[in-house]
Amino acid sequence: MEIYFKDEQIATKNLSPGLKVYGEKLIVENQIVDEEEVEVEYRLWNPYRSKLAGALLNGLANLNLANDYKILYLGASTGTTVSHISDIVYNGLIYAIEFSPITMRKLTRLADNRDNIAPILADANKPKSYMNLVEKVDFLYCDVAQPNQSELFMDNINLFLKKKANGLITIKSRSIDVSKNPKKVFKEEEKKLLENGFKILEKIKLEPYEKDHLALLVEKIF
Ligand SMILES: C[S@@+](CC[C@H](N)C(=O)[O-])C[C@H]1O[C@@H](n2cnc3c(N)ncnc32)[C@H](O)[C@@H]1O
Repeated sequence: MEIYFKDEQIATKNLSPGLKVYGEKLIVENQIVDEEEVEVEYRLWNPYRSKLAGALLNGLANLNLANDYKILYLGASTGTTVSHISDIVYNGLIYAIEFSPITMRKLTRLADNRDNIAPILADANKPKSYMNLVEKVDFLYCDVAQPNQSELFMDNINLFLKKKANGLITIKSRSIDVSKNPKKVFKEEEKKLLENGFKILEKIKLEPYEKDHLALLVEKIF
């Protein structure tokens, strides 16, 4: 998986060199490739802007995104995290689901510069509405910050994720129940996943980047 760690920072190789997506820093290095010196451009991946970067810097160890993976991404927003996944799966495709038309405009502009992003304006609660657009995928990412996010994560997994493949959900305690202790909320969400036959591979807290957030990496075992 092509993610670069250096001096407690994380970066991906820029699929559209020269272009920034959300004001991130670009770093150019000279490297020898096939006995020739070439310039390679990296984009720093900001963990305060992307929960996946936060999870990786906090030790997420079993994420494995091959460069040709097909990915279903729920809650794409303007594409901050989508853009870094797009750098990683440069031979693959990301089906990026977002239900806000205003946010979708920026996501569409991102997809204009990257052939491996397919933006889809749709409600992740209604996965059957995009069944004709999305194929079976190798990885499913869910970051919708909604009270029923575990349920919609599982519904989408059941329809689109290949068997034995993995998915990652970020859980924002306050989106589920602002009055409950986050630990209790996390336990309840984990229980739902376990009761529905998912195996939890890793649990990563997202502090200091995000308060009261947990990332769960799960495997579809059925
Ligand atoms: C926390 S933001 C996502 C940030 C993004 N994943 C990133 O890291 O760049 C949550 C996004 O999910 C979208 N969203 C919430 N509920 C949704 C639903 N049911 N279907 C599709 N998108 C949804 C919101 O409009 C918002 O853009």
